[in-house]
Amino acid sequence: MTAPIHFRPGTLEDSYGTFLVLEEAIADLLPRLGITDPTSLADPAELEKMWQRRRSLLEHLTRTAYQFWVAEQAGEVIGFARSTLHDGVLELTEFFVRPGAQSGGVGRQLFERAFPQGDFKHRVIIATTDLRAQARYLKSGVYPRFPLMYFDKAPDPVTVVTDLVFQPMTATPDLFEELNKIDAQILGFRRAADHRWLLGDRQGWLYVREGRPVGYGYTGRNNGPFALLDPGDYPAVLSHMENQASQTGLERVGVEVPLHNRHAVDYLLACGFKIPDGFFAFFMSDAPFGKFEQYIVTSPPFFM
Ligand SMILES: CC(C)(COP(=O)(O)OP(=O)(O)OC[C@H]1O[C@@H](n2cnc3c(N)ncnc32)[C@H](O)[C@@H]1OP(=O)(O)O)[C@@H](O)C(=O)NCCC(=O)NCCS
Repeated sequence: MTAPIHFRPGTLEDSYGTFLVLEEAIADLLPRLGITDPTSLADPAELEKMWQRRRSLLEHLTRTAYQFWVAEQAGEVIGFARSTLHDGVLELTEFFVRPGAQSGGVGRQLFERAFPQGDFKHRVIIATTDLRAQARYLKSGVYPRFPLMYFDKAPDPVTVVTDLVFQPMTATPDLFEELNKIDAQILGFRRAADHRWLLGDRQGWLYVREGRPVGYGYTGRNNGPFALLDPGDYPAVLSHMENQASQTGLERVGVEVPLHNRHAVDYLLACGFKIPDGFFAFFMSDAPFGKFEQYIVTSPPFFM
């Protein structure tokens, strides 16, 4: 007899169990998309490295979750779904079921709990092209707006030609006010909790022209998000990012780009960045909003 499946709210104690489900589901998904590179699941040392790399992000998503649900069978996590709610915008951050338990209705029950219908400003998902996931999202009234692809290269020192001043962020109330103002213009909502986490995880920059902040960005081992009031500044901002990576001795530098951000795409392809594999995601929402042609999402793309 198979053990019953039950659903309960997730906690910080579930971080490693949900991480394993995520890694298993991704390792199973990629070959179906034609991507056969080895994943961290195949090697315990790589899996441990990935856990150390992902842990802070996953814990941040638990601490700031609006809904976090796990499916459990015989004491083991077999699936989970999680969302955040910032300034009225509901975003599904993760939705994964262990491969052996997929296509049996577990996902539907998790999804209904974590990503409800309701009086939200918007409902948003950065989604894989997994057919079960797409069917679920489309049935819940969110539709693809544009694709996102990762571009990367080995960083070189580059000359940054610009009148922008690159100002390292320091966490003051004034900073959060500036970030809120830029987010309100580019995204149409604010999310100070994410900025607080990003500031601890990577280097934040305010891009300043004639004493006025005209954008922000984050660089480091992972890059993004970037939001610019004038997208014509992407060449300067991305070359500054590459320089930072080169100076700190990183092996790779990459960004997760809305493909209609033509200023970023044109610059990246002209400057030797490559799309490393066939993986892409859809940005899905209940209705069009925001100026994503002036934006680059957070990498890895768990949330915008
Ligand atoms: C996406 C995922 C979490 C869904 O969980 P699941 O338990 O497999 O899903 P369910 O069995 O509850 O639902 C599958 C749905 O897809 C539908 N479906 C399956 N194949 C389909 C197809 N080719 N076309 C249309 N609908 C399809 C099923 O009919 C079912 O919908 P219904 O419940 O309305 O009948 C799981 O499959 C998974 O982990 N996939 C890999 C990881 C991933 O890509 N996650 C998404 C991250 S954004």
